[in-house]
Amino acid sequence: MIPDEVVEQVRDSADIVQIVGEYVNLKRQGTDFRGPCPFHQGTHRNFSVSPKKRMYYCFVCHEGGDVFHFLQKRLGVEWPAAVKMVGEKSGIEVREVDTRREGPDPREPLWEVNATAAGYFQKILWDDPLGAQARDYLTQRDISREVADQFNIGFAPREIGLLRNYMGTLGFDETRMAAAGLLIQGEDGSEPRPRFRGRLMFPILDSMGRNIGFGGRILGQGEPKYLNSPESPVFSKGKTLYGLNWAKNDIRREDQVLVVEGYFDVVRLMAAGATTVVAAMGTALTDAQAAALRKLTKNVFLLYDSDKAGLQATFRSGDELLRQGVSVRVVTLPEGDDPDTFVKAHGAAALTARLRDAIDVFERKIQLLERAGMFGELHKKRRALDRLLPTLRATADEIMRDLYLSRASEVSGVAREVLEREMRGKATPAISVSSPPPAPRISPALRARRGERRVQRSERGDSAEREIIRAILLNRSRLEQIAEKLGAQSLRDPQYRAIYRALIAADPDSTIEEVTANLDEDTIATVEDLLAEGAIQMDPERTISDSFATLRARDLDRRAEELDRIIPLADGAEKDKLIAEKKEIGKELETTGKRYFKKFRRTGAR
Ligand code: UTP
Ligand code: MN
Repeated sequence: MIPDEVVEQVRDSADIVQIVGEYVNLKRQGTDFRGPCPFHQGTHRNFSVSPKKRMYYCFVCHEGGDVFHFLQKRLGVEWPAAVKMVGEKSGIEVREVDTRREGPDPREPLWEVNATAAGYFQKILWDDPLGAQARDYLTQRDISREVADQFNIGFAPREIGLLRNYMGTLGFDETRMAAAGLLIQGEDGSEPRPRFRGRLMFPILDSMGRNIGFGGRILGQGEPKYLNSPESPVFSKGKTLYGLNWAKNDIRREDQVLVVEGYFDVVRLMAAGATTVVAAMGTALTDAQAAALRKLTKNVFLLYDSDKAGLQATFRSGDELLRQGVSVRVVTLPEGDDPDTFVKAHGAAALTARLRDAIDVFERKIQLLERAGMFGELHKKRRALDRLLPTLRATADEIMRDLYLSRASEVSGVAREVLEREMRGKATPAISVSSPPPAPRISPALRARRGERRVQRSERGDSAEREIIRAILLNRSRLEQIAEKLGAQSLRDPQYRAIYRALIAADPDSTIEEVTANLDEDTIATVEDLLAEGAIQMDPERTISDSFATLRARDLDRRAEELDRIIPLADGAEKDKLIAEKKEIGKELETTGKRYFKKFRRTGAR
């Protein structure tokens, strides 16, 4: 059995004209669509489809019904199969529940506990003195009660026992609350604590409107700014789009979707009437999210911030969407604005105007590369093309890809055939080289708790970089001598680089606390790790000089690789010069950095 509300939801969100249109040649006539009846094999346009009534009807053979009935009749499938087919097209998961055999959905208890907690948070926000500060906060952000209620916004108080008591009286036990991520169970028998404390709460619903988790914003300053529910059997951040349950029907109807970064953006835009909006919750779109959108529309507008992280997320999302064969446009807002502040200041109409000026994601990439002068010098041009190639490879729509190829050739001056060969040369990487994933926006403390930070460290930690930084941390008088020979840009690891820069900038007599005062928590933790590894370094002078040699060899090797890629594009005197440089590097690596060079090559680490 398929639950009635699911059937209704599927019927509501289905585009009957498109679905019937796959079998019947329909033409618009007034508000309806007409075509030859497929049931009595009519030749005149007596068969009518009404998007408004969500029904079809033949005036000759009197065959009529809803979209499910149409598929049953036309394809000879059973009714549940028809509902599933339509659900698939609308991105709605249709599950048959056999009440006798399967029982209720096992996720039910978690949805329920989340929904109840959401109600509690709402009550605290509006009816409790503890909610006063949060009410002020909403006022200050210009969110009315009416709008807040539309999104079931609430407030989780700081107090430790309140949620647990309240939920307890309603019969929800702690295990269930912990499973939903509402409580963090104390180790060694200490009192369990609420995960969300002193935060404005956005309930997160799945596309069916079930409560799967929360996003909690701190009032004012603090870290992390937003805290989400942990991954659980009901909540998976990478598969969820905030706002989809409210937006999906309009996305289908208007055949477009706006992808924004955050909760407030969704709330603001929807309240202003721009209802085809969803948020990826602070990160680039995953393949699952892109696929979910693809089922609803092929027109996606990306409205990420235009800072570095925002651009990375834009292009990463762009590649993901292009892989789905979707058309992707980028909307650029005035510097310092996000969709929330923009619409708050200028209204939804101003946003619509910006949508009209949106530019294709590939064109936007070219634009930024051009502005950075990347199509000028030869070696820059090579790098620019390396940024475009992953997007070309990702583009599933062949016509689109063809247009992109022409455009890349035009802007770079490199022959189309050459680009095409390069493009086909390598397999489509799941994650494009051009846009590395933005740093996860979860608190370092949390990451550490989950043990992720340590893993990340050892994966990308380069021992030569680490040893040099450690040598300086252990004995600051070494800095001057090292800084003469080693520029910060030679360090690849962003954390080591940041620590190194901080060391250089600091007063030699300052304490480590002073040096690290402006570093992020994650980097400070790395400093602590380095110092904790032991106060003694065996033969520090030797360690330092070995590490230098390694880094020098790495720089040379990197340059050699770059030359390999540039040389084919050069000609004349320039080419000779580059070849000579390559030979020099080869020589130096032979004598000094040989060990590193060979190792590097053999492992194929590039
Ligand atoms: P922003 O920091 O751009 O948030 O993060 P915002 O919505 O503009 O925040 P306000 O307007 O200052 O309240 C955008 C989204 O990134 C996720 C959240 O989903 C947020 O809405 N995010 C951000 C996190 O998950 N954790 C963070 O620490 C920060
Ligand atoms: Mn904002």
